[in-house]
Amino acid sequence: MNRVVITGALSLLVTACAQDTGTSAVTDDAGEARVVDQALVAQGKREFIRCVACHSMNANGRAISGPHLEGIIGRQFGDVEGWQFPQHLSEHDFVWTESRMDNWLQDPQAMVDTMCLPFTGLSSEQARAALIAYMKNPN
Ligand code: HEC
Repeated sequence: MNRVVITGALSLLVTACAQDTGTSAVTDDAGEARVVDQALVAQGKREFIRCVACHSMNANGRAISGPHLEGIIGRQFGDVEGWQFPQHLSEHDFVWTESRMDNWLQDPQAMVDTMCLPFTGLSSEQARAALIAYMKNPN
């Protein structure tokens, strides 16, 4: 009971602060409040222009020439209903964590051969962080 009250008070506090800073509080799956940097998400959306020709961030979006990326952080590699991954990628067995995504975005073909060409990587750590923030908060 106490914990509920404290969590509630915390999210009020976070929401109050957010109005000044351009951040907002959302509740994640565990029910914990976390702060989203909306400016970073907006930058990530702009970075996504490198991907949008092939990928939708919405599972119900129109099928383009790549699998949708809704919920990609936390998703098993190559596990998208309705998308046939090429046989040579079946050797990869991992979950897309934030750090793995950061590594992949830096040097994509070094980690997964041939995937997502012509995207050959983002050297800016800040741009990668923005893209990941957008992937986690696409709406
Ligand atoms: C020219 C089209 C194209 C572009 C541009 C592209 N991708 Fe892809 N991507 C694909 C295809 C196709 C696949 C599925 C694997 C395959 O067929 O090689 C894929 C797979 C992926 C996967 C793995 C999905 C899963 O379920 O494991 C991720 C993550 C991904 N792309 C992210 C990106 C990001 C982020 C960008 C932009 C920075 C990008 N891609 C740019 C075509 C593209």
